[in-house]
Amino acid sequence: MFQKDLLQGKRILITGGGTGLGKATTQRFLELGAEVYICGRRQEVLAATEQELRERTGGKIHSRPCDVRDPSAVEEMLGIIWAEGPLDVLMNNAAGNFLARTEELSLGAFQSVIGIVLMGTLHTTMACGRRWLAAGRGGVVLNVTTTYTITGSAYVVPSAVAKAGVQTLTRSLAVEWGDRGIRMNAIAPGPIPTEGAFSRLLPRPELAEAAKKRNPLGRFGTTEEFANLAAFLISDGAGYVNGEVVTMDGGEWLQGAGEFTALGRELTAKEWEMMRPKPKKTKE
Ligand code: HXC
Ligand code: NAP
Repeated sequence: MFQKDLLQGKRILITGGGTGLGKATTQRFLELGAEVYICGRRQEVLAATEQELRERTGGKIHSRPCDVRDPSAVEEMLGIIWAEGPLDVLMNNAAGNFLARTEELSLGAFQSVIGIVLMGTLHTTMACGRRWLAAGRGGVVLNVTTTYTITGSAYVVPSAVAKAGVQTLTRSLAVEWGDRGIRMNAIAPGPIPTEGAFSRLLPRPELAEAAKKRNPLGRFGTTEEFANLAAFLISDGAGYVNGEVVTMDGGEWLQGAGEFTALGRELTAKEWEMMRPKPKKTKE
């Protein structure tokens, strides 16, 4: 799909790069010539991904444990990375989420998810942004949100409010920092099977079939499709795309929102026929 050297020479940090969508994207960026740093909380997960992807791609990959909720840990990590050279791209992919009835949530539950998703994104974005601005050089930020930033969603309220904040941060800074060469966009994916998301958000496997029926394409997205969109958005070829939130959900949220979509799918062929205009009788 892309030229093999699309991301040659680019230095990229992917938070949460040890698993799921972050891992698949790390692999794609390495295949396209980038040097990639990944972080997360679990050292053993990061080390295993680093080794696996280095062997698979032969690319330059580094990993470092870092809890993005902790601004001093983020500063320390970025200080170490910058000592080896500036980053060109930051991808805020780390997240936390679970299904719960909102009235039963503790304050700690809200703080945990909002801390990872919104504050974590803010910590890394400020730390990179300030360095880029001070050096008078550009940079690219790619955030990962969800489709329910538009609609809100019951039962994932900490995630919904945090991701909506990330979406607003994306659009705000795309304008404020755009004049100094910093481009900022987001991907809003629909459901894509990963262990991290589906173990927490799909309590019964058979619910997957119902979820696929809610999608015009009748299937979930793939990690490869996500990684390809990410590669395009951070590449120089997408240089005029700024402040955009790109939905990739097979049309799922539009299907849910369309007033007559569900009704139309219920109607029989006979009912459709009955609604067609009858042939007009011509006067003798
Ligand atoms: C209610 C819960 C809970 C649950 C945790 N808590 N799980 N409350 N229901 N299922 C509460 C705890 O009681 C605690 O509150 C607080 O949250 C923090 O929990 P800890 O386990 O101490 O936190 P921690 O170990 O830091 O784990 C963070 C986490 C966990 C967010 C809770 O799920 C995690 O590590 N997630 C990372 C990966 C992830 O979530 N991936 C999915 C991303 S998918 P108290 O008050 O007791 O301190 C996604 C979008 C999907 O984001 C969209 C699909 C279409
Ligand atoms: P995942 O595998 O659980 O990815 C989450 C990653 O974030 C993990 O690697 C995790 O590693 C890391 N992380 C969590 N808390 C962290 C913290 N405090 N500091 C640093 N890293 C932290 O789930 P995924 O499905 O790939 O999700 C990736 C992104 O896509 C998320 O932003 C998610 O909201 C978004 N998304 C996913 C879907 C989907 O269907 N899969 C749909 C819409 C949006 P540690 O646990 O080791 O820290």
